[in-house]
Amino acid sequence: MCGIIGFVGRKEAAPILLDGLARMEYRGYDSAGIALRSETKGIQVRKSKGRLQTLSELTHGGADLEGVLGIGHTRWATHGEPNDANAHPHVSENGKIALVHNGIIENYLEIKEQLMKYGVTFSSDTDSEVVAQLLEYHYKECGNMMEAVGRCLRRIEGAYAFGIICADYPNALIAARKDSPLILGFSPEGNFIASDVTAILQHTRDVVYMNDGEIAVLTADSIDVFDDEMNPLEKTHSFVEWDVAAAEKGGYPHFMFKEILEQPEAIRKTISPRIRDGRVVLDDIHISAEEARNINHIYIIACGSAYHAGVVAKYIWERILRRPVEVTLASEFRYSQPLVDEHTLVIAISQSGETLDTMAALREAKRLGGRTLAVCNVVGSSIAREAHDVLYTWAGPEIAVATSKGYSTQLVAMDLVGLYLADLLGTIEPEEYSAVLTEMQKLPEKMQTYLENFEDTQYFASRYFNHDSVFFIGRNLDYAMGLEGSLKLKEISYIHSEAYASGELKHGTISLIEPGTLVIALGSYGPLFDKAMSNVVEVRARGAEVLAITTDAFREKMAKTADSVISVPDTHPLLQPTLSIVPLQLFAYYVALQRGCDIDKPRNLAKSVTVE
Ligand code: F6R
Repeated sequence: MCGIIGFVGRKEAAPILLDGLARMEYRGYDSAGIALRSETKGIQVRKSKGRLQTLSELTHGGADLEGVLGIGHTRWATHGEPNDANAHPHVSENGKIALVHNGIIENYLEIKEQLMKYGVTFSSDTDSEVVAQLLEYHYKECGNMMEAVGRCLRRIEGAYAFGIICADYPNALIAARKDSPLILGFSPEGNFIASDVTAILQHTRDVVYMNDGEIAVLTADSIDVFDDEMNPLEKTHSFVEWDVAAAEKGGYPHFMFKEILEQPEAIRKTISPRIRDGRVVLDDIHISAEEARNINHIYIIACGSAYHAGVVAKYIWERILRRPVEVTLASEFRYSQPLVDEHTLVIAISQSGETLDTMAALREAKRLGGRTLAVCNVVGSSIAREAHDVLYTWAGPEIAVATSKGYSTQLVAMDLVGLYLADLLGTIEPEEYSAVLTEMQKLPEKMQTYLENFEDTQYFASRYFNHDSVFFIGRNLDYAMGLEGSLKLKEISYIHSEAYASGELKHGTISLIEPGTLVIALGSYGPLFDKAMSNVVEVRARGAEVLAITTDAFREKMAKTADSVISVPDTHPLLQPTLSIVPLQLFAYYVALQRGCDIDKPRNLAKSVTVE
């Protein structure tokens, strides 16, 4: 969703801003703009609907706009349609103050009406412009920009990350944050604000994470952070482990393809530091055996693919923890009066760590007294910082909108937490614990084996890409994985697809199976393989064309009933989804490629969903 960058330094800011915006393109946007402050021309703004390319052409790569202080924004429309006027930055009526904003101002209409009564005219439909005009109002009132920012923040309600510049302050970039991510970056060439670390990675890995209610003033040489009453704060610097190459395409046709291929390494990085001497060691989780024994209910809250990772975990955790585990969509959890108390463990899974619904659900769980744990990929993200404990997945930056390595590292991270708790509680047999752990360490190598030879997956994609409706069927862990396989296909290829628990098919949906319907049958969960075979027979009898995903051990048997078969190496049944999902990701990728879709940026989707 919306992206913010700001720079103040010793170099021309416009090319830096445009480059930063380009690196956040993956988040999804429908308009973009930059504003620069120059000694001679004051505040200058260029913005346009559509792709960044248009903005770049409009400004000749930034060469048309002079100044070493500026802000930039990519907008994903919420209030007001995507057009030039609604694009950010927004400038106050007298042209002195420019602002970029992520988030939503809830009381903007009320403030707008009041300002209109004072004679202010508005040039956009956005809630963000209201803040630019309110700032001008307070600035005129008190004559001090920081005081004006303080007054303005006390007046507005909602979520925000702001980048603000003022014509009267040649060397000051002002930032403020509440419920919307914003980081500060330090570099010898100048200082940065950004909503996403990938925007500034090529300049610096030395950052400070802003907390809610904080205000920052950046100059070329300094960054000062204040609380909401303007008391100065001491902030801790963090070093970003990601490097710039990890966030670049590096010769691959698409980020998604690169990220699928990166999975063995991402999984290795996520698990290997956490397995020592045959045990799961989670230094970052501070749940004692006694606390674990006190937990009688577990919720997993997440959205989209992260929710699907939670469904896989539910099957595994209930088996090894012997406790009820409920997986709930974060958007539903927050309004469902969930039964959370001090005996409840609530796990929030989120790649970005910024998904608004997951964040709100996590806060609700905390408010109700639950013990919370976040499984996140982005270090310092809001969800990671808000939870009592956090376990990071080490997938590196994920740029493609459709997650792949984000999801598979969530699977193994949840496996680790599950085993850790089962060990604390003594609910898993030592033999099973060791067997799972041993196999877990072999996952990267086994996944690599499949990834070295996936021509058949590519071939089946070219054979089936013309279908307009697809059903994924499976049982238990295969069903849980099918949810993700189906989402992958629909989100990037725009083919309608649905995942069904095979046993449920007969209760209605089987009426949709007719000659030629493509069914992707998931038969990789060993304990229920024979049942998976029966379901293949059942749908084939109704004329379905069946592509089966199974393991090498079952391949021959499956080939007797299914039309086409893809197999992956065998592992412990509880870990099989981590391997079996890979052909489904690649199948979706190649189908989308055949259909000419914009794989890394599917229509209507944003990478990090920071609105409700
Ligand atoms: C689908 C996808 C989304 C995300 C969902 C949650 O490929 O990526 O469904 O999984 O928006 O995002 P995070 O994990 O960042 O909370």
